[in-house]
Amino acid sequence: MIPADSAVALPHMPVDVARIERWIGEFAALTEEGPGVTRLGYSALEREAHALFGAEMSALGLTVRGDTAGNTIAELSGLEPDGPALGTGSHLDSVPQGGRFDGIAGVCAAMEVARAVVQSEWRPRHSWRFVAFATEEGARFGQACNGSRAAAGLVSTGDLAVVKDSHGVSMSAAMAAVGLDPARIAESRWRSEDWLAFVELHIEQGTVLEASGTSIGVVDAISGSTRLLVHLDGVASHTGGTPMHQRRDALAAASECVLACERIANDATHHGTRVTVGRLEVQPGSITTIPGEVSFTIDIRDFDSERQRRTAHLLDAQFRQISAARGVGIRSSVIGDTSPVFLPVEIVDSIVSAARERGLTYRLLSSGASHDSQQISRVTPTGMIFVPSIRGLSHVPEENTAFDDIALGAQVLLDTLIALDGSGAPGPAAAWTA
Ligand code: GLV
Ligand code: MN
Ligand code: MN
Repeated sequence: MIPADSAVALPHMPVDVARIERWIGEFAALTEEGPGVTRLGYSALEREAHALFGAEMSALGLTVRGDTAGNTIAELSGLEPDGPALGTGSHLDSVPQGGRFDGIAGVCAAMEVARAVVQSEWRPRHSWRFVAFATEEGARFGQACNGSRAAAGLVSTGDLAVVKDSHGVSMSAAMAAVGLDPARIAESRWRSEDWLAFVELHIEQGTVLEASGTSIGVVDAISGSTRLLVHLDGVASHTGGTPMHQRRDALAAASECVLACERIANDATHHGTRVTVGRLEVQPGSITTIPGEVSFTIDIRDFDSERQRRTAHLLDAQFRQISAARGVGIRSSVIGDTSPVFLPVEIVDSIVSAARERGLTYRLLSSGASHDSQQISRVTPTGMIFVPSIRGLSHVPEENTAFDDIALGAQVLLDTLIALDGSGAPGPAAAWTA
């Protein structure tokens, strides 16, 4: 429940939609050429976005620091600065040719919450930390949420050398190229005792809120993901000279594998499993040469952690059968693996109360996408607020959310943090982590 003294303060801290819109526009300008926004994890552009976030937070008088994972953390000291802190934030990287809102909406909402508190008479009891996480998207390296995974103590220096992007650049090398020291990644770990709770605002990336005319989504679970990289080695040869029965066509084998992915996800025992082949590269890529080599990625998403991993094993076994039948070689590796999580009811309740106090429509829903909150929930009780995505589109240039809807979500975020600030620790972390 929102404590009485905080409820009095609520109307004096309205969030400013114009400011959110301006910030989203400024981040959107930090992009590679091409459609939509391309600001990949551990790129110079991602670092520019972090610098912009840090400069805006410094201008508000917050203390800003970067950690060894590339996360940027701005702190507003509370009246009891030595106690545990409340946090909010999201990520500033994008997928290739993505939209303006994924991650950014949550960072801009956090910035506006900071602005509203700083320019009010009200001071939090606990310190509040505003966080821009590094490299949340798995689009570049496969493994998602590197910044928040480091904060949760899940990343070692050795891990960073193993994961590579499609050009063969390891995460360590990419970090070093933007001035980060992968050897010191362990220093980014957050201690549970330093945190009271964390709440992230994010666009829904689905159609539930829009279709039901609901303003606020209160997330109760976040899907897990297992990602594989598969290489098929066939024999490249002349498309005219090689008879059909003598071919070892890597792309024909890959096509069977892609359809096996779709079939398993549509199987009655996999209700809720989603499997996608999102990247497929064919060599030599000539009209007149039989494909000799194909590599492709698989992204398996599920709310059932055991089924998620079982699906990966089943598919790997099927790919081996398909390849053997066609005389094609196969190598596969796991390039990302994250468990689903269920978010604690205490934070869900706080968000629900805040939405209700504002007279906003809300509903519980689960997240099919991954989020930094998934990792942070291992450190401290964590919640998520979703705002509607127009036509549900995300990870594409057409991704859109009404600025007014982000402002409503930011107001609920602010009210939730005020309530948590006054309500003490909601409970021990990690018990609900799958
Ligand atoms: C994050 O955007 C994801 O890929 O789920
Ligand atoms: Mn995101
Ligand atoms: Mn994303």
